[in-house]
Amino acid sequence: MKLNRRHFLKTAGLSAAGLLTSQLPISSAEAVPTKPAAGASVMGLVVPKIDTVRVGFIGVGQRGSGHVKHFCHLEGVEIKAICDTDAQVLDKSIEFVIAQGLPKPARYTGSEQAYKDLLNRDDIDIVIISTPWEWHAPMAIDTMESGKHAFVEVPLALTVEECWQIVDTAERTQKNCMMMENVNYGRDELMVLNMVRQGLFGELLHGEAAYIHELRWQMKEIDSKTGSWRTYWHTKRNGNLYPTHGLGPVSQYMNINRGDRFDYLTSMSSPALGRALYAEREFPDDHERNQLNYINGDMNTTLIKTVKGRSIMVQHDTTTPRPYSRHNLIQGTNGVFAGFPNRIAIEQAGSASYHKWDRDMAKWYAKYDHPLWQRMGQEAERNGGHGGMDFLMLWRMVYCLRNAEPLDQDVYDGAAWSVVNILSEASVNNRSNSVNFPDFTRGAWKSGKPLGLIGA
Ligand SMILES: NC(=O)c1ccc[n+]([C@@H]2O[C@H](COP(=O)([O-])OP(=O)(O)OC[C@H]3O[C@@H](n4cnc5c(N)ncnc54)[C@H](O)[C@@H]3O)[C@@H](O)[C@H]2O)c1
Repeated sequence: MKLNRRHFLKTAGLSAAGLLTSQLPISSAEAVPTKPAAGASVMGLVVPKIDTVRVGFIGVGQRGSGHVKHFCHLEGVEIKAICDTDAQVLDKSIEFVIAQGLPKPARYTGSEQAYKDLLNRDDIDIVIISTPWEWHAPMAIDTMESGKHAFVEVPLALTVEECWQIVDTAERTQKNCMMMENVNYGRDELMVLNMVRQGLFGELLHGEAAYIHELRWQMKEIDSKTGSWRTYWHTKRNGNLYPTHGLGPVSQYMNINRGDRFDYLTSMSSPALGRALYAEREFPDDHERNQLNYINGDMNTTLIKTVKGRSIMVQHDTTTPRPYSRHNLIQGTNGVFAGFPNRIAIEQAGSASYHKWDRDMAKWYAKYDHPLWQRMGQEAERNGGHGGMDFLMLWRMVYCLRNAEPLDQDVYDGAAWSVVNILSEASVNNRSNSVNFPDFTRGAWKSGKPLGLIGA
């Protein structure tokens, strides 16, 4: 052991004294899973200006149809084609586009592979993928292979191998692959990012994120809609099935992949009881929902350690009866912000102001509303979509493409945030032992630039 450690210190070129500071990883640094690159890094990728962004949609169910609606109200875009295996929802979206006075998009349906015909077109720049989770990785990869930029709903992928395939493909093709984490564009999340950047909380120490959203009712969606496929994930995997909504913003506060990186996690699940009880209460005895073996713990709690020593708690619970929360907590040496409901406590010189939460947000919005929200917030709220965050995200994607700017979220972010799904399962199944994160950036996180305070 001693020899190995001495060897590691030598080969890493670090002094023993340096390594012993709490800022540097000791336990996992020797075993960071990574892979040789298949092409140049796409960190900060800027692609040539696209004056009119020509878009194709794959999957226009509950989520994708909303994206189509927003695109009808965006400047500088053309909706070229839409694909869905469900002809009914497909036609609804096509009719919506026509009703806005826009040209009729081409229609693709008839098989699960019909999306490949859409990808064969040469008049599309970007593809928006809003299909069930298992389709995200193959469709994103096929999109980039067809020479188009991929924009994918959450989560980006479902296995570590898929994450690597997506990263490899983005690097080889030099295409964008953005996981569309809309919560990063919420007014509160943007304001907290602005506060963090201005140093209000001091040095960041700890974050808390969550997707606590009671969704048992989706089990009643049997033949179509989200519950018709999502329910089965509760029978296949025990971990955090949906980590990115809470984790995306906390990662941007902490500059994850841009100066810091997820190092390892440990995860624990509660018993899985709620879905079986719900099925027993809501469905006849012989109903399929009563035959399923629900294994995903009702509450999953994962702890992530970053290489800078910070900690993040991420929770997942779509089963128990309790109010919605993404926690949205960020703790620094000088104070804390917490969401759901919003509250803040800051140490001010000579006062013990931090013993009480300040819940009056008006003055904080007035001082710290993010420049992007100041510019676009009203229009975003008017267009709606989770309080405007959906519209703002899509607007910002189009803005970056039309102005040759890097996107706010890249393929490495999508992979790092999504892989928590997979690694949490591995930890839960191994008595919560820690699991190392792959370094999808292959070391580029060290020089990655923190996200700027985009005001556009
Ligand atoms: N970011 C958010 O706030 C948010 C909110 C809701 C859903 N989502 C995500 O959006 C995605 C879609 O969820 P949803 O609620 O719209 O589900 P949904 O079941 O309503 O829609 C999925 C659609 O994909 C279609 N589809 C399935 N396989 C296909 C294939 N091979 N080719 C073409 N179309 C296919 C289905 O027919 C359906 O219309 C999921 O990944 C979900 O996690 C994100």
